[in-house]
Parts: sequence; C-alpha cells; structure tokens
Amino acid sequence: MGEFPNTRLRRLREPAALRKLTQETRLSVSDFIYPMFVTHGRNVRREVESMPGIHQHSLDTLMPEVGEVAEAGIPGVLLFGLPARKDAVGSEAYEANGIVQEGVRVIKEAAPDLMVATDVCLCEYTDHGHCGVINDGRVDNDRTLELLAKTAVSHAQAGADMVAPSAMMDGQVRALRSALDESDFVDTPIMAYSAKYASSFYGPFRSAADSTPAFGDRRGYQMDPPNATQALLEIELDIAEGADIVMVKPALAYLDVVSEARRRFSTPVAAYNVSGEYAMVKAAAGNEWLDGTQAALEILTAIKRAGADIIITYHAKEAAAWLSNGV
Ligand code: PBG
Repeated sequence: MGEFPNTRLRRLREPAALRKLTQETRLSVSDFIYPMFVTHGRNVRREVESMPGIHQHSLDTLMPEVGEVAEAGIPGVLLFGLPARKDAVGSEAYEANGIVQEGVRVIKEAAPDLMVATDVCLCEYTDHGHCGVINDGRVDNDRTLELLAKTAVSHAQAGADMVAPSAMMDGQVRALRSALDESDFVDTPIMAYSAKYASSFYGPFRSAADSTPAFGDRRGYQMDPPNATQALLEIELDIAEGADIVMVKPALAYLDVVSEARRRFSTPVAAYNVSGEYAMVKAAAGNEWLDGTQAALEILTAIKRAGADIIITYHAKEAAAWLSNGV
C-alpha cells in the first residue's frame, strides 16, 4: 500500500492527457436509447412543458425526427403513444392500427436500422389511467396479462424490434414471451421494466403521455422505494420468465440497485433516466443554477459507472452532440 509522500494521486490527475488515459468510465452514444412520444393528428410537434426539448410528434413530424436520431448514431428509440380515445380496457393499446403500431411502421420506414422498442403498458390507453384493467377497484393482474400480451404481439406485428413491458404485473414477462412465441416472434427480445419503483420522478412523463391515474396511485403494483433486495428478486424472476434485458427505473435515486444488479446477473442491465430527472436538470439549468450540459453528462456517466449497459434517456440527442463535439 503506497503512502504519502510516495503515493501522490495528483500525478495522474493534473495533466489532461493522463486524466484521459486513466478514465475508468467512458460514455458513448452507443449506450443510449431515446424515448419518443407519438400522437394522432398532422403537423404536431408539441413541446412537453416540463421537458424542454422533448416533443409529442404526429406521424409526419416523427419521420424527420427519427432521421436525426439515427444520424446522431443513437442505436435505438423507446416509443410511447397517445391514443385518440381512452376506455376502461385500453383498446387502442392493442389495435393493429393504433398510434404506436403506426409509429413503429413510420420509424422502420424512415430509419430501418434504428432499433425500435415499444413500451407495453395500458396506462396511456385506459380512461382511469391505471396500468391494467380494474376489477372491484383494484388492478386485476391476470386479466391484464392477456391484454399486455396482445399489445406486445400487435407491436411485433407492426415491426417492433423489441418490446418493453412496464406495467409491473406479476408474470408479465412470461405472458409476453409465450404470446410472442405462439405468434412466431421467437426472436423478438423483451426488455423488462423489472425493478420499477412507485416514484415521484415520473411526474413530467405523466403529463407528456397523459397517463396520471384518475384515482389512487401505483403503489399496489410498482415497487416500494425503500426496497432493494426485493428488486433483485424482481429481476431474478424476470430473467427466469425470459427477459433478455432487465431494467432499473428510475436510475439516479436507485444507482445502488443498478450496481447490485450488474454484479449479480449476467443479463444486460438498462437504467431509465426518467422524466423527473431530466426536468430537474433542465429547470435548474434554465435558471442558470447549474451548467446543464455538465450536469447531464455527469449524471449519465454516473449511471454507466454504476453498471448500466444501456441508458434510456431524454438527453440522448443532445448528449450525442456533446460527445461528438468532445464537450
Ligand atoms: C408507463 C410508463 C411510465 C414511465 C415509463 N413507462 C409512467 C408510470 O409508470 O407512471 C415513466 C417514464 C418517465 O418518467 O420518464 N407505465
């Protein structure tokens, strides 16, 4: 063990070149998945108020946008949809010509090599805003599984490269896997929102996707924030059910879970840098309370340092530009 004055860590720290050579974590555009919102209508490019730089797109404005995303070298997008109408069972989620299904077709046409993952959940499509169907005032787990499975198959039929179940229903990965296999989509991978917490950091997303629950909250199905060991059980079960990629969400307040998941499992780990995390940086930067670029890069690097193989982030486009400009 070296000791002062023989060991001087500043030797490797002060020259910029040595800092580069000894840098342990390198953020890359290849780490990113960019979430996008698609909506009905024409010529819509509506900025989400609490998420500067993030827009809801109609199919026609989605085209040029995905072109830019692909051009920036971002490997994939995660697609969310705003349906034309909502009902008790979230019908548009699994319609062959639903907004996400149409969005997938547009993206695959505009940028065939861009990986399109779809969020598989009912909350944007139900009139009550819960992630599943309601029975006796509760979200009915097993009845919801059938609808999630139908949704995933309809996404794969539209051309989705990967499906991402986010409803936090027990058994959802198994339900999707068997439905996909039965429909001959044996090679469509599942990115499971495995450890998804009942978090206040989803606030801006819920206005972006219009998915705030009309009554109650999501604590009956999403994870309780104080729990970390249980997150590992969620991940273990999802891997056993056939998850190809597991996810921890949100990222920033749960880096301990990301780190432990990376240590324990060999499946790729994704971390979702959620809407509230993005909004905090943008709001503070907008007030000139911090340097938004540096803060975002620091956060993204920290998520990678914790062990995430994939970072789902609203910063993806701007971060791609910062990285290629050597910021
Ligand atoms: C749908 C879903 C949510 C998010 C991703 N998929 C919202 C929620 O669970 O309430 C949140 C994403 C974000 O905040 O960026 N179930």
